[in-house]
Amino acid sequence: MSTLDGTIPFRVSDLADRKARGIPIVMATAYDYVVASAVDAAGVDVVLVGDSAATVVLGLPVTRDVTVEEMLMLTRAARRGVNRAMLLGDLPFGSYEKSNVQAVTTARRFAEIGCDAVKMEGGGAIVDRARAVVAAGIPVVGHLGLGPQTLVAGESARVQARSADAALALIRDAVALEAAGCCALVLEAVPAAVSERVVPRVAMPVIGIGAGSAPDGQVLVTYDLAGLTEGHVPKFVKRYAELKQELTRSVTSYADDVRAHRFPESRHTYGIDAAELEKLDRRLGSSS
Ligand code: KIV
Repeated sequence: MSTLDGTIPFRVSDLADRKARGIPIVMATAYDYVVASAVDAAGVDVVLVGDSAATVVLGLPVTRDVTVEEMLMLTRAARRGVNRAMLLGDLPFGSYEKSNVQAVTTARRFAEIGCDAVKMEGGGAIVDRARAVVAAGIPVVGHLGLGPQTLVAGESARVQARSADAALALIRDAVALEAAGCCALVLEAVPAAVSERVVPRVAMPVIGIGAGSAPDGQVLVTYDLAGLTEGHVPKFVKRYAELKQELTRSVTSYADDVRAHRFPESRHTYGIDAAELEKLDRRLGSSS
């Protein structure tokens, strides 16, 4: 069992424990060593190396453009920064849907580099992929509602499960993912009233993003909450800082200082022993 004081590692089994104790689970994304160590130091329970990295840090148009190799590189970097939180790797588009063998092969690559669990998007055929990965000994987090991997360039994200039929299908997928052995479910961009009907129908913890307050925990993209992303920000994001503005401000000040000869100052400059300098100048004088 983990404590809330940040000293004991958070394990996959702690997800269920938190739910049983009614303690909200906190998940946030990170895609590199620096942000992962900051997020871990903040005491979050789960660090997700999400494929949102595609758009957030790689500047790609959609998440489906990121490759397995790119995700593995980012996940390795995040792994080095995480000491306490559970590390959740996101299987990117095209790396797990085709067959159970493909899903297990890809999931193993993420487990081998230190992921405690992997996440995959969707219901339907993905339920069987999740079952196969769990059977291979790798914990799986499902992801229903909005599946960013379904979006192609130029298409905008929409709230899901707004009809009774769609909400019912989502609930059936959630129940099936739980039966397949998923240890948790991310529920993205669904009406609050729908997540209120999903959460009591599954025993596994549900982590919401744009799914209201019924879920057992929340996940946000750290770059969104810290103000490092620009452009359209989804309604479900709460901004806790404006770090991109602060970053631009600091680099602008540096550029201004260089151009005005205010930087570097003597305190940023290395010295040399006066005798050595004199010797150097003598030699330079004699060689010129
Ligand atoms: O890739 C990601 O960051 C995600 C979260 C939005 C849940 O899947």
